[in-house]
Amino acid sequence: MHSAGAGRACPVSYRYGPAALAGKPQLEVETLWVAGGLYGNPFALERLVELYEREHGSKALVFNGDFHWFDVASSQFSQIQASIERFAAIRGNVETELAAAAGDAGCGCGYPEWVDDDTVLCSNNIIEKLRKTAMQFPQARAKLAALPMHLVAMVDGERVGVVHGDADSLAGWGFSQEFLSTPEGILAARQAFAKAGVRVFASSHTCLPVLQSFPEERAIVNNGAAGMPNFRGTHFGLATRISIRPSKNPAYFEKLKHLFVEAVPLEYGARAWEECFLAQWPAGSDAHRSYYGRIVNGPRYAVEQALRRAKTGSPRLAA
Ligand SMILES: [Fe+2]
Repeated sequence: MHSAGAGRACPVSYRYGPAALAGKPQLEVETLWVAGGLYGNPFALERLVELYEREHGSKALVFNGDFHWFDVASSQFSQIQASIERFAAIRGNVETELAAAAGDAGCGCGYPEWVDDDTVLCSNNIIEKLRKTAMQFPQARAKLAALPMHLVAMVDGERVGVVHGDADSLAGWGFSQEFLSTPEGILAARQAFAKAGVRVFASSHTCLPVLQSFPEERAIVNNGAAGMPNFRGTHFGLATRISIRPSKNPAYFEKLKHLFVEAVPLEYGARAWEECFLAQWPAGSDAHRSYYGRIVNGPRYAVEQALRRAKTGSPRLAA
């Protein structure tokens, strides 16, 4: 059983605050890829690594949490884990809860009030099942526990704060498209930029993507999900790419000084992923109830809704 509020509350241990991002960068590169919400999709992972390996110049790929989720089959879990270990990573609420002995936080999602109770319950049940799989891999759980909650990358002289949730907490919703559509959300984000001293925040966790720019050429880029569709009627995941060079086919992008901040589609092969998902989460299962509709049809969200900008000008849709 979960404690009251499991999946709703944000555990104290998840909190760090924006000043935690004000320190020295851990990476210095020309091109940074950030992929959150892989959710155990091996085909999206394969596509992401393929795109990343084509990059020239100095580069890094950071998995910013929730790379596990639907991968309850032991072989799937270990395959995802082994691939992630080749790259940099921070932990999301999923990895943190898998590494924890007890599951009082439920899925640790910190769900806000606009997410319904049934979704929260399904997520708590998914994490319980996934924890049983993870228990077969004690070394992997120790590695997940040791991952940081955030990191700072320097991309050609510009600081990028990489988080799972927001600038305050691992499971915060401050960088969600919902909160960033409010004046309070914009104000809180501007204060976070000042305290963290970053040009870009790269986040994930809140399921839907957003690229919100701010005055003084700053931006929050939330990739939504790398391993699930992000827009109605589509079948691709998204990863964030921040680079001194543009890529060929971003879904949308923003230019900040000399940096290109892009949402890059991950075409993973919808049919193969659907079969892989159904083999682990058949009709009637918790994940099927919560996510199958999105995997097949995409969420009720359009690419145009992901592009947001400070008062002057507008982010650019790719041609
Ligand atoms: Fe998350």
